[in-house]
Amino acid sequence: MCDFIRKHGHANIGFATGSTPLGVYKYLIESYQKGKVSFQNIQAFNLDEYVGLKPGHPRSFASAMKKDLFSHIDIRLESIHVLDGSQQDMDQECQRYESLIKNNPIDIQILGIGMDGHIAYNEPGSPLDGMCHVVDLHQESIESSLDYGFDNIQDVPRQGVTQGIGTIMKAHQLIMMAKGQKKAKLVEKMIYGEVTSDFPSSVIQNHDHVLVCLDQGAASQLK
Ligand code: F6R
Repeated sequence: MCDFIRKHGHANIGFATGSTPLGVYKYLIESYQKGKVSFQNIQAFNLDEYVGLKPGHPRSFASAMKKDLFSHIDIRLESIHVLDGSQQDMDQECQRYESLIKNNPIDIQILGIGMDGHIAYNEPGSPLDGMCHVVDLHQESIESSLDYGFDNIQDVPRQGVTQGIGTIMKAHQLIMMAKGQKKAKLVEKMIYGEVTSDFPSSVIQNHDHVLVCLDQGAASQLK
């Protein structure tokens, strides 16, 4: 990512929240602090958000990205783009975000895999060519949200808004990351299993430029 930014001087980057990319974000902050890279000319696009939370809500994905990366680097505030889950007309919000991305194609998209195989908040059953949309979160996703600072499960929003799989697949380069033994079987299915909307992350097999980054635990089921 740093090489790309240095080479081109600018980049449109899609960022995932969650625990997996935190080490990468720490590395980007350190690289910035050491003067090795500048984010002044990048545009950032968050992947997804909870419906019902304002971007400034402490548990929103927008706040998480600010806390974990954006507030520590020199990105311009106006270059940070998020899905606003608090909008009254979410269809309109999805259309706004979809055309923003269409006009600013994403160069590098960071992705993680959810415990039900989701990418962004595209839950099992999501169309493989879908655009930005609102989703009902599956139980695994609601439970996993407890890791993101919610005090109890009742506080976790039941809906999310997400870039669609079709939106994600238009990015020029995907970087899929997974960490820990608990992801091992999912990673094996994502790489060697059938490409199906029942297991949305399997769609990365159809992308021409995808880098999968795993720690030993997440890679332990690969032959
Ligand atoms: C978050 C996102 C999700 C996460 C996935 C893995 O923006 O898009 O798909 O990447 O749920 O989350 P962690 O990394 O917390 O295991």
